[in-house]
Amino acid sequence: MSDLQAVKGTKDIVHPEVALWQHLESAIRDYYRRFLYREIRTPLFEYSELFQRGIGETSEVVQKEMYTFLDKGGRSLTLRPENTASVVRAAIEHNLFEEIFPLKFFYIGAMFRYDKPQKGRYRQFHQFGVEVFADPTPQVDAEVIFAAVDFLARLGIADIRLHLNSVGCSDCRPGYLQVLRAAATAAGEALCPDCRRKAETNPLRIFDCKNEGCIGVAASFPVVTDHLCAPCRDHFAEVQATLIQMGVLFTPDPRLVRGLDYYTRTAFEVTSGQLGAQNALLGGGRYNNLVRDLGGPDVPGIGFAAGMERLVLHLQPPEAGDAILFVAFQSEAQLSTAIDLARGMWDAGYAALLDYGGRNLKKQFRKADRVGARFTLVVGEEEVLTNQVTVKDMRTQQQQRVAVRELLPWIREHL
Ligand code: HAM
Repeated sequence: MSDLQAVKGTKDIVHPEVALWQHLESAIRDYYRRFLYREIRTPLFEYSELFQRGIGETSEVVQKEMYTFLDKGGRSLTLRPENTASVVRAAIEHNLFEEIFPLKFFYIGAMFRYDKPQKGRYRQFHQFGVEVFADPTPQVDAEVIFAAVDFLARLGIADIRLHLNSVGCSDCRPGYLQVLRAAATAAGEALCPDCRRKAETNPLRIFDCKNEGCIGVAASFPVVTDHLCAPCRDHFAEVQATLIQMGVLFTPDPRLVRGLDYYTRTAFEVTSGQLGAQNALLGGGRYNNLVRDLGGPDVPGIGFAAGMERLVLHLQPPEAGDAILFVAFQSEAQLSTAIDLARGMWDAGYAALLDYGGRNLKKQFRKADRVGARFTLVVGEEEVLTNQVTVKDMRTQQQQRVAVRELLPWIREHL
């Protein structure tokens, strides 16, 4: 075996798993079309500054997880760890806020984080996500969340839980952070050293700590929902009322914080009971200041992203794919007829396979079996002379002659 391997934390997606990915991707396109989301494709790398400013200098992602490098021109570039900042950058750069209506985008693609690899967590992973701009209403928050949960249900993913919170806005959050910082400082040594550091830099992150001791201490910390300003409180109440109207079940979770710093007001996460430690299927929220902070107009946004590797873990292999036709020939003399025959099948849209080097019929039938062919179309000396094909039904093993010009209608009828 070669000593060359895929980079740690990356993964090849090959047959048959790749069929699950294709199924997921077409389900996303089909579902989000209904809400008038348009696809957006942004580059895999951006200037590092975009993520530093967009995601926030104190976030774990920016501090520890970015793949940042200098290109040959000495510019600092970063493989995108997420796509919201890139979509915002593209929307500002191309003035999409003026050009496109409605401002609803979806994306599917690879993201990169220097995370600790484990089941469901990779260094190159894939997200699908949506971003909606210029709609400040709580109803659109509920629509985005409804669609996310409804989409998972349609994929057949059961046993999920929607956690919902409001993280406030630039008016009310500073006051809450002060109260929280005071509580964290008072907890002192009861918090791990990492959380003691977070108490200074970004106390909300303490709620993310997996350390049992810290979880216990943080359970008695003040929660953000008790410190929301009146507009944030009203917004949150309306989001919940609309979700109830739409029949979406949720768990209010006042300790839900997100790993990225751009969120304002609504924040949510969907977890799966079946995933173990890496149980977040998707996460997102509202970001009312990000567009402005990145140099654009004062336009609010909301969105989420889902980890596709985690969704794929829940998907069932699809029903049998294309019916396959195997084209076999008796000897070298019929190879060109066999190629013409296969060409006719491809032109008609069928999946057909030909073993050009096929030395004898027995070996070709074996390959037809191996690939799961439904019918094998055999041409021999006699078939060429009589303008016919022998069709072997690979299930029943029965054979029959069919005239070449009758072949396509025959196949259409029998597949
Ligand atoms: P995020 O919570 O950082 O949010 O990531 C969203 C989802 O991506 C997670 O819930 C998880 O399913 C998946 N994910 C994250 N890291 C990994 C990893 N290392 N391996 C596998 N899957 C992973 C965002 O990225 C925001 N941009 C979401 C958003 C969009 N907020 C507003 N708009």
